[in-house]
Amino acid sequence: MEEVTPISGRKSDHIRINLEEDVRSGLTTGLEGYRFIHRALPELNLEDVNLSQILFGRELQAPLLISSITGGTEQAARLNRTLAEAAQQTRIAMGVGSQRTAIETPELAGTFQVRPYAPDILLLANLGAVQLNYGYGVDQCRRAVEMIEADALILHFNALQEAVQPEGNTRFGGLASKVAAVCKALSVPVIAKEVGWGFSEPDVRLLAEAGVVAIDVAGAGGTSWSQVEMHRAQNESQARLAAAFVDWGIPTAQAILNVKRAAPELFIIASGGLRTGVDIAKCIALGARLGGMAGPFLKAAAQSLEATVQTVEELRREIQVCMFAAGAGDLEQLRRTELKKV
Ligand SMILES: Cc1cc2nc3c(=O)[nH]c(=O)nc-3n(C[C@H](O)[C@H](O)[C@H](O)COP(=O)(O)O)c2cc1C
Repeated sequence: MEEVTPISGRKSDHIRINLEEDVRSGLTTGLEGYRFIHRALPELNLEDVNLSQILFGRELQAPLLISSITGGTEQAARLNRTLAEAAQQTRIAMGVGSQRTAIETPELAGTFQVRPYAPDILLLANLGAVQLNYGYGVDQCRRAVEMIEADALILHFNALQEAVQPEGNTRFGGLASKVAAVCKALSVPVIAKEVGWGFSEPDVRLLAEAGVVAIDVAGAGGTSWSQVEMHRAQNESQARLAAAFVDWGIPTAQAILNVKRAAPELFIIASGGLRTGVDIAKCIALGARLGGMAGPFLKAAAQSLEATVQTVEELRREIQVCMFAAGAGDLEQLRRTELKKV
């Protein structure tokens, strides 16, 4: 039986709204402002273009991440299993959705536990950073990692989403020092992640000082969580508040550059509105190591495992052809490839 806690009710709403409604940001990612310089003589063989790399001790066959999406309900467990099986077959990385519901109701842990289906993938645990101001600490972070045998922990920062939710947790004061305590105590790397509005340079500096190893920029241009909350609103006034933020946020391309400028030592994951392999390749040329997607993988996983694997294979091929036509034989060369600003 599916347990209907307030959190799992919200999770079901989120999946339904993301599958059925138009929840796109009013902004674009900014990636359309960059082009690769075409190479008519790439001096490479297409099949020799190498997309593999080792990250956090795991070998990936493409620079792709299934971004944090879900967990906590029966439907979420099915989606997580499909996503994990696809990630294992294609050897890409995956994050699970916020594990708070399973920290609070341990019987729900199974809905996040995908290791049996994906023993070799880079797997990322997930908790909302703001929970550190609501009684969570190192212990809960450690439990989230152990619950799914994760390689790293994502702490997500979703201040605006919480602020437009009627039941939101909005006490974001004094969070950086609590993040620092978690980074210090945990034995796995900590990744800071937005959920679709990106990070500014001052944010990046605070997070770097706190000791995070990586930033997933999750910039604007894709799924907009204020739009999702607009569709969940219980009255007109709540809906108007959420709708006011349709154009909010730092576009993904700018957010990548913000990390590069403010903390060049940090490892960058790009996400937020990435929809093609060319988008992902551009992010890598701008400085990222990995490109993540949530919305498109949710839609594919809701269809079938085959559709999810096919989505990954198509993205992988697009990245490979893009690297070929830009003259980059591997991901290091892609990172050094110059983009033209248009
Ligand atoms: C249904 C759904 C649930 C999500 N839940 C989480 C979550 O629990 N934790 C998190 O860090 N991000 C969550 N996200 C945000 C995504 O990881 C991602 O940052 C955001 O959707 C932007 O990427 P996109 O434009 O490719 O969808 C969720 C996204 C979707 C579509």
